[in-house]
Amino acid sequence: MAANYNAEPILKVENLKQHFKVNRNFTVKAVDGVSFEIYPGEIYGLVGESGSGKSTIGRSIIRLYEPTDGKITFKGMDITGKMSRETKETLRTKMMMIFQDPMASLNPRKTIGDIIGEGLDIHHMYPNKIEKQVMINRILQKVGLSADHCNRYPHQFSGGQRQRVGIARALIMNPDLVIADECISALDVSIQAQVVNLLKDIQEETGSSYLFIAHDLSMVKYISDRIGVLHLGHMLETGTTEEIFARPVHPYTKSLISAIPLPNPELERKRVAVSYDYAKSGLDYNVGSNHLVEGTHYVFGTDEQVAEWLK
Ligand SMILES: Nc1ncnc2c1ncn2[C@@H]1O[C@H](COP(=O)(O)OP(=O)(O)O)[C@@H](O)[C@H]1O
Ligand SMILES: [Mg+2]
Repeated sequence: MAANYNAEPILKVENLKQHFKVNRNFTVKAVDGVSFEIYPGEIYGLVGESGSGKSTIGRSIIRLYEPTDGKITFKGMDITGKMSRETKETLRTKMMMIFQDPMASLNPRKTIGDIIGEGLDIHHMYPNKIEKQVMINRILQKVGLSADHCNRYPHQFSGGQRQRVGIARALIMNPDLVIADECISALDVSIQAQVVNLLKDIQEETGSSYLFIAHDLSMVKYISDRIGVLHLGHMLETGTTEEIFARPVHPYTKSLISAIPLPNPELERKRVAVSYDYAKSGLDYNVGSNHLVEGTHYVFGTDEQVAEWLK
């Protein structure tokens, strides 16, 4: 299902800050004033190098952390501070996370059937045992596994199959928002495309929204409607996939795009990777504002910097 930009966003993140106090003298500002929104049926790709704050954003949104500052709205409900029982229930059933490492996130002592059915159990989402098994079998089939995998254990599966279990566990809840945090990075390259295609197909069928987190821009390009570029806890540029790739404006975005190998060997030979070093860039991410480039495309910087980049 295509994204519906006329509807209210399903998720709104406003000036999110997530700081970790490491010791008396030092606080890590993992996320430092990030804003974006995700619309119904939209796949929003969040991209940035390792340590840029991607996972922290995902974990703050699903409330594994208490945000330091800012506001997160999910389905019109403020999920930032103390939540009502109803809001908590909505959050726990309608927002699901797919983790990077399927082995670490699947309980080795539980069968696949138990793992996938756990959310249904906790939230009493089936009328009887038979109906529950029907739901499990249906989702297993949807992710390319079969009903007789139910009694097996995680170690009996390949990495790709385990990630399919992780996907099934999230999707059986019929979530409105799925947070997929580098959910293919741990898989063999040959399997990555299969799993991304699976997610894409299921998204088209269900119309759920996705926050697709990755450090690899090429996968994000393939799957996302819009992209947000994150660096050192700051959102530097956002726009549709076309806007970002046709006309990257921020030097960091340019360097990320220039790092993608090109399939055409002729062009690949001529590709120049542009390096980027924040310390030497003369930029200060704490100074500036979002500037409209065109359409839904925004870039962060001071007036002078942005004017220079747009020349
Ligand atoms: N619980 C924590 N305590 C202290 N620092 C953290 C914690 N979680 C993440 N960080 C730091 O915050 C920054 C962002 O981390 P993370 O969100 O995992 O980045 P990414 O997912 O983009 O690789 C990193 O510098 C990381 O070391
Ligand atoms: Mg991460």
